[in-house]
Amino acid sequence: MSSLMVLATLDALRQQVKAWKQQSLKIGFVPTMGYLHDGHLSLIHLALEHSDRVIVSVYVNPTQFGPNEDLAQYPRDLEGDQAKIEQAGAHALFYPDDAIMYPDNAQTFVNVKNLSRPLCGEDRPVHFEGVATVVTKLFNAVRPDVAVFGKKDYQQLQIIRQMTQDLLFGIEIVGGAIVRESDGLAMSSRNAYLNPEQRQAAACLSRALRTVRQAFSSGTHSADELLQAAKYVIAEESLAQPQYIELRNSTTLETITEEAQASDRMFLAVRVGSTRLIDNAPLAGPCELD
Ligand code: PAJ
Repeated sequence: MSSLMVLATLDALRQQVKAWKQQSLKIGFVPTMGYLHDGHLSLIHLALEHSDRVIVSVYVNPTQFGPNEDLAQYPRDLEGDQAKIEQAGAHALFYPDDAIMYPDNAQTFVNVKNLSRPLCGEDRPVHFEGVATVVTKLFNAVRPDVAVFGKKDYQQLQIIRQMTQDLLFGIEIVGGAIVRESDGLAMSSRNAYLNPEQRQAAACLSRALRTVRQAFSSGTHSADELLQAAKYVIAEESLAQPQYIELRNSTTLETITEEAQASDRMFLAVRVGSTRLIDNAPLAGPCELD
């Protein structure tokens, strides 16, 4: 007998959350687009540390994909996801459909103006509006006490922190460490698109981040030199096409132009074949790359 509650409607979700709240249980929430890997599962474990009941959502949100992006091909495996979510110890799975999330004639969208502009916002102009809108809807549906997001999508995490503060959600936002493959590649549902040769090439992102962290710890603090070090590593990999390589403040995401600080972060987006991969790391301090 499965102990995971599987909730496909708003009514079922709200009834369950209400029952838990009546027992004064703290609700944790982990939103995902499914095709779960160990990175997602680490967020469930983190949510369990911060709450009494954990709800995971699986919903491939159409509004965060651009017209020429991979919405149709995005990998899906609801049965496999359900087993993994249960195994990880979560209490409920919410998997709404498009009719629930975007009722006819939906007209309301959430835009976190400044943080959505740089980095992935330049390459994917509609992406963060779609993310902020769907996360707002999910927050309103679930009404969690705490929600957990991965640092893998660091700009997304900062956008959600800002939005949560601006819209008075009263939800604690927790950021989870990036879970990586043994060669350093950050886990991602999109890694499934890579063929073996591309998969090997994809390690250049984490290699570049490691190189930059080493350079910073050996005393190279000039933004230009750190960027050059990252660009050099990516350029050495013939299958890799950089989209952006940037050094930014970890809270405001403003560009660093002169001396970098330990807490500043290097952000990378690199295309390997037609797959777009992202990664990031702070210049110093604890990091899964060590
Ligand atoms: P998805 O890409 O499925 O990711 C769900 C959550 O898992 C996000 O918070 C993401 O940052 C985190 N995650 C992904 N790979 C990770 C890794 N290697 N280590 C740690 N965490 C990782 O992000 C989304 O879905 C969507 O934009 C969503 C927030 C669900 C809105 O649709």
